[in-house]
Amino acid sequence: MSTQTISTQPIAGQKPGTSGLRKKVGVFQAPHYLENFVQSIFDALGNVKGKTLALGGDGRYHNREAVQVILKMAAANGVGKVMVGQGGILSTPGTSCVIRKHKLSGGIILSASHNPGGPDGDFGIKYNIDNGGPAPEKVTDAIYARSGTITQYLISDAPDYDIDTVGSGTLDGMTVEVIDPVADYAELMQQLFDFAAIKQWLDAGHRIRYDALSAVGGPYGKHIFEGLLGTPAGSVVNGEPLEDFGGHHPDPNPVYATDLIEHLDAANAPDLGAASDGDADRNMIVGHKLVVTPSDSLAIIAAHATVAPGYRQGISGIARSMPTSQAADVVAKALGVPCFETPTGWKFFGNLLDAGKATLCGEESYGTGSNHIREKDGIWAILFWLNILAATGKSVNQIVTEHWAQYGRHFYSRHDYEGIDTDAANKLMDELRARLPQLAGTQLAHRKVKLADDFAYHDPVDGSTTQKQGVRIIFEDGARLIYRLSGTGTEGATLRVYLESYEADAARHATPTQEALADLITTSRDLARIAPLTGRTEPTVVT
Ligand code: G6P
Ligand code: ZN
Repeated sequence: MSTQTISTQPIAGQKPGTSGLRKKVGVFQAPHYLENFVQSIFDALGNVKGKTLALGGDGRYHNREAVQVILKMAAANGVGKVMVGQGGILSTPGTSCVIRKHKLSGGIILSASHNPGGPDGDFGIKYNIDNGGPAPEKVTDAIYARSGTITQYLISDAPDYDIDTVGSGTLDGMTVEVIDPVADYAELMQQLFDFAAIKQWLDAGHRIRYDALSAVGGPYGKHIFEGLLGTPAGSVVNGEPLEDFGGHHPDPNPVYATDLIEHLDAANAPDLGAASDGDADRNMIVGHKLVVTPSDSLAIIAAHATVAPGYRQGISGIARSMPTSQAADVVAKALGVPCFETPTGWKFFGNLLDAGKATLCGEESYGTGSNHIREKDGIWAILFWLNILAATGKSVNQIVTEHWAQYGRHFYSRHDYEGIDTDAANKLMDELRARLPQLAGTQLAHRKVKLADDFAYHDPVDGSTTQKQGVRIIFEDGARLIYRLSGTGTEGATLRVYLESYEADAARHATPTQEALADLITTSRDLARIAPLTGRTEPTVVT
């Protein structure tokens, strides 16, 4: 066995987006594509010699092949040890947990998150740093810069390593430890939540339905819900990770998790419905004929945090991404703790968590998490809800409606215009930006604009500034209209329009969301000239 030095040249477009590098599987299968990026990671990190890294992915098509390539490249680059999930499986939160628990230098996660998989689907790769969180921009910028100058990569010519048997061995001098992907994570969850209370609640006849959408959450759900908590077999559905996610679009929202929604709409619905995405960091919580918005979920978890043993002492603060609704702000105010507003992308929470400024974080894109790791965490959120249900004896619907009654309701919806022409999308955003200075003080339909800007974030921990994170139109009555382009798509551009309005009067809380937001929706389309510029009169996805 020996190290091969392979000549290569830069491949354009290896710029990590909101959450790592994502491309069609075919792009990743092209000669040198994966290798160039992996070598760029190692080069950008500087000295990986003797370091220990975690490695795993969401099990999608090309996962196993990529794991072998990365193991061989790690060995050739002098990495000391790689802890790899059995079968190449590790959820994103699972990887973050392993990095933190074993104090590793970082980890490589193979996932395109909620994007479809299979030979014609997407593949992705991201690097997480030693705190267990996504690499900050200065690291991803360095990786991208390196990908533009790369001339060679190192790879061992060793045969494929057996990643299906738990235990330690070596690959061309590097230690490889194949680990149970669930064990460390399950142990952490038992420290955070009251498993005895949840078990009692389940034993009393309460039922759950967790839909893993044939993605990586399955093994975690089976072990934790069916194994440790003893939910009846069948509580976890689509629990086998499949290379094409069984044709599912592994995104836990009402549009894609339709089967779960149907089960929770039924007369004999389970007490809690939940789903997670491809790499199990996203979650959706569903009650009877009620989908809990991620923004509300964050606020509700914050309001009830002390029911869970891991949060008994209270929370230091909440952080939410800018487009996420202000429901959490109201709870933070009531609790007397700060609420931070960050750009979209979980990486922006890392500094706040590391500095102890925030305990809970959340995003409207079905992401919720805390300082227990440095990624959002689907199974964690489901366990938090179970802990709340067990501790209060209330139903999901009761918890939500009582929350609105106490704090007011933030009606919230996101309208996505997917796969639009990139030039048209950029033109739309540029036109909007150009009009911002004139908007403040003007009247749009029956609302007066209080503030109109392009969101810039000043990180209170490291002092860095991140510009152009989304156009915000904030109205005097607290309503908000936000526009930004997705950083996770792989085809054309996706325009996201976020709509939010506040209603204090409980008598109006039962209004259907799209109805409550109707005038704001019309304003959003007219103001940005969506139809004339993109040719779209309706969004492709409404959540
Ligand atoms: C990933 C990131 C999230 C982000 C989401 C949507 O899930 O981890 O932090 O909110 O993508 O990003 P996008 O740029 O597509 O709106
Ligand atoms: Zn994900």
